[in-house]
Formats: sequence, C-alpha cells, structure tokens
Amino acid sequence: MRLHPTGKFDNHAASYWHIEARPLAAAMGAEICGVDAAQVTDEQFQELRQALFRHKMIYLRQQKLTHGEHEAFSLRFGPFAEDAYTQGLPGHRNVHPLIKQADDRSRMVFGEGWHTDSPFLPQPPSITILYSIEIPPFGGDTTWANSALAYAMLSDTYRRMIEGLKVHFSMRDVLKSVHDAVEVGDSPIGRLAATRDAERLSDDLLRKIRGNTHPMVRTHPVTGEKALYVDPSYGIGIEDMLPEESAPILRFLTEHLTQPAFTCRLRWEPNMLTLWDNRLCVHQAYNDYQGYRRELYRTTVSGETPA
Ligand code: SIN
Repeated sequence: MRLHPTGKFDNHAASYWHIEARPLAAAMGAEICGVDAAQVTDEQFQELRQALFRHKMIYLRQQKLTHGEHEAFSLRFGPFAEDAYTQGLPGHRNVHPLIKQADDRSRMVFGEGWHTDSPFLPQPPSITILYSIEIPPFGGDTTWANSALAYAMLSDTYRRMIEGLKVHFSMRDVLKSVHDAVEVGDSPIGRLAATRDAERLSDDLLRKIRGNTHPMVRTHPVTGEKALYVDPSYGIGIEDMLPEESAPILRFLTEHLTQPAFTCRLRWEPNMLTLWDNRLCVHQAYNDYQGYRRELYRTTVSGETPA
C-alpha cells in the first residue's frame, strides 16, 4: 500500500512558551529552537518532552555538549537503558560512540535496516539521544517512520485483526548479517562481527537471540497514543502462529509502516542533538559515505515492559 497525505497527517507545531518547534516533514519530526541542552530549564524540558511525544523525533542544532552534559541531559528523561550493542566510553559508560572510520569498507553500518532500538530486550529503551561531532560531506543521513501514524492509517478491520497479537523480536537475523558483512574492528558492530569466530556465543548474545515477545500494538505510557510495534530487522515471528502465517502479516505491516509518506529524513550537521521515541517510530541509518568518517555519541533511556 502506498498512501498519500490525508487529514490524518497532523505534524503542526503546538504553541509553546519556552521553546519553538519547527516541523520537519508532513508525517513527523521537528527542529526545536531556543534551547541550550547543556542548560535546559525545567520549563523548557517539559515542553521539549511534549514536543518529542508529538513529533516522535526532534533535533536541536548548534549544541556544544561534553559527554557529561550529554549524560545529564539524558538523565532528565529517566535512568539509562541497557545498551544491547555498544560499550560506553571510559569514564562515561552510558555514552556510546557510534564511529565509522573513513577506511572502514564494511558492507553494513550500525543502525542499517529499519528498526526500533533493541526490541528483543524485555524492557527496550524508550528514548534514544544521539549527538553528532563529525558528519560526512554527503550521506550518513538518518530516516525515521511514524509508527503511530502508520497504525492510525490502517483500516478498522485490520486494526481489529491484529489486536492482541504479540511479535517475537530477536537479534538473530541482524547478528547473521553482521557476521556476513562487517569487518572485525574497534567499532560497535566491528566487535560484534568478531563473535563469528567465537567457539560458542556468550550467554548474553544467546539471551538476545532468544529475544522476547511484545504487543504488536503498543500504547504510549504517557500520552496513551497507540502505535505499531513491528520492524523488519528484529521482528521474526508472531506468537502462536506458523512462520507461513506470520511472515505475510509482518511483511505487510513493515512495508506499510516504512512507506515514504510516513517518514522524515535528517541531514546531519556537526553538533546536532537528536532525540527519538522508540515507542512511536522506527529508524534506519545508511552506509553511503564510504571514504568519510562519521562520529556520533548515543545515550538511551530505560523503558517499560511494552503494553
Ligand atoms: C541507530 O541508533 O540506529 C543509528 C542511527 C544513525 O547512526 O544514524
């Protein structure tokens, strides 16, 4: 299905007292102006959080953050989440470097393929906060798709059909792609690639491959908004269904969710701070800047058991 904008698209900015929101695309995303993330006031923070839930992804330009300030900003949203892939920096173990070197010729990049962050965990991270330092002269964009809008744009009959279904999320297929396509090296997926030569997978990786089941339709714990919770990277089946039965449903839903009309795309600049709510959107990175370095730092905020 390929839809065109209709009356259900509503990404206009709310009016705020302490921040300004400038919508990015028809479906989602907004730039937030008038905020220094290193010195955000309580009033600004409350509005920024509302804007995040409204636009699903927000970004701030020209932010100068130390790793400590990045951590402090992140902690305003809640405790740090378990990061399923990366190791934090020395002295800042909750700040995770996402660095791809100019000479890395891997056929895959961290975050490639549409996904929501770590849904194979029992309590996946709620919010991801990514800060850019070095950005290639072209490429290295990130795209998001609005899972609440995608849910709203399903027919009533389809919505009734999927109510109560649970998706089985696993790291299995992503790990296989990493093993097939990534050079072993000092990067998050470079280290994961090294596990292909391990005698046997660690208990931690086996736990992530076993994964977890979560409701296909999630209700946002703060706003009550309903959203599809599916992705083509980690969603490998539907509870109590045969693979032949679940595969067409998952394929339809992920194609529906990631159609261009429901997306926004960010052209990064250095010193941008971008936040997204994993309960309300999926995202993907691109491996399209070979020969150039890209350096970002990520924190994630702990989430609840999806319901
Ligand atoms: C991710 O968190 O999936 C990575 C996003 C990016 O590097 O653009």
